[in-house]
Amino acid sequence: MDAELHPVQRAWLDNDVAQCGYCQPGQIMTAVALLRRVAAEDREVTEADLDDIRNICRCGTYPRIRAAIRDAARDM
Ligand code: FES
Repeated sequence: MDAELHPVQRAWLDNDVAQCGYCQPGQIMTAVALLRRVAAEDREVTEADLDDIRNICRCGTYPRIRAAIRDAARDM
């Protein structure tokens, strides 16, 4: 099953990101879009890129979201 996961999904699981999970589909889609844009621009993800994400998470999982995106960036 792991082989079928997108690197962002794998990073989400590895970082135990989700709490209630309500916001997670949007967070993951935003992360994938960000990583694709950064790759197309042939550069690394910056803290400013992560600061620009506006998806709201009522559970406050932002530190784990940021860590997961950084991990996924290394794997993509
Ligand atoms: S995990 Fe609960 S709103 Fe984000």
